[in-house]
Amino acid sequence: METVVSGIRPTGNLHLGNYFGAVKNFLQMQNDYNCSFFIADWHSLTTTAKPENIVQSARTILAEYLACGLDPDIATIYVQSDVKEVLELYLYLNMNAYLGELERTTTFKEKARQQPNNVNAGLLTYPTLMAADILIHKAVKVPVGKDQEQNMEMARKFARRFNHLYEVDFFPEPESFYFGKEAIKIPGLDGSGKMGKSDGNCIYLMDDEKTIRQKVMKAVTDSGPTKANSEKPEVIENLFTFLDIVSDKETYDFYNEQWNTCSIRYGDLKKQLAEDINKFCAPIREKIKEYSANTELLDKIAKQGAEKAQESASKTLKEVRQIIGFRP
Ligand code: TYM
Repeated sequence: METVVSGIRPTGNLHLGNYFGAVKNFLQMQNDYNCSFFIADWHSLTTTAKPENIVQSARTILAEYLACGLDPDIATIYVQSDVKEVLELYLYLNMNAYLGELERTTTFKEKARQQPNNVNAGLLTYPTLMAADILIHKAVKVPVGKDQEQNMEMARKFARRFNHLYEVDFFPEPESFYFGKEAIKIPGLDGSGKMGKSDGNCIYLMDDEKTIRQKVMKAVTDSGPTKANSEKPEVIENLFTFLDIVSDKETYDFYNEQWNTCSIRYGDLKKQLAEDINKFCAPIREKIKEYSANTELLDKIAKQGAEKAQESASKTLKEVRQIIGFRP
């Protein structure tokens, strides 16, 4: 069975971008692949050196994973920092990762701009840690959103480089995975390109009905179409992206037709959209509350996940050490 790995940084609650970019694809894979889904707590240190409560943040995300439907009896669900083997592989990969290529990654440049007083080495080597997360399980598929494409390219490059350097055919080259035609990017409703925690424009799975309504009603629009069947500007296309993911086809077609005939009322569309987003989130929200209250269960699942992940990780690491030439 092929191996699948994915992860999310515990820097806040799960939002719709996380769900539709990564979690949903993963859910559809967990029965057919050997799946691991982890909480990338080390990665979150690249932006926040002293997270307030690292254990609690991991628990929160774990409760959200479970509420979304990740099944700990089928998939391996674990916290990254519980699997120390990843760090050794990270070190080996770093020995063959070059400053120029790391500095050129878009996320590094972006973060360096956002946090000029904290351009740390962890930030620079973020892609090697991510590659280590994936390669430690020799994963071939990685369900991620569009924003991770460059990191995925780096992971393939590091896998290839290792194989070439040691003249082995050891690491597979991991592919981004999505069920649709292409990788998904969930937009922000504030007119920005992407829904993201650091952009402050997220709709969280945990948001209550009122908050969802407020956020959706505030979504940026334009003054409306003036020519039939015209192309939608980005902010309007964004609203339709949301309709496409949470509403039924009739609703989408209805508003699309209204757009095409220049009779669209954005207020109505937004009300409908808020209702549909709430309908989607409500059952997950309830489950998050249930799981969050059961810390004993969460800790048990994390422990069981860590054991399974360590088993797979130590097997890979043992072989890597052998390939490099360390004493058995
Ligand atoms: P993170 O925590 O930023 O996001 C987690 C996942 O959610 C996806 N995502 C989106 N997808 C579509 N539209 C959006 N607006 C959107 N926002 C977030 C991301 O693409 C991602 O799949 N580097 C990773 C964490 C990570 C990882 C890994 C992932 C560490 N190691 C190994 C896969 C495999 C990250 O920062 O994700």
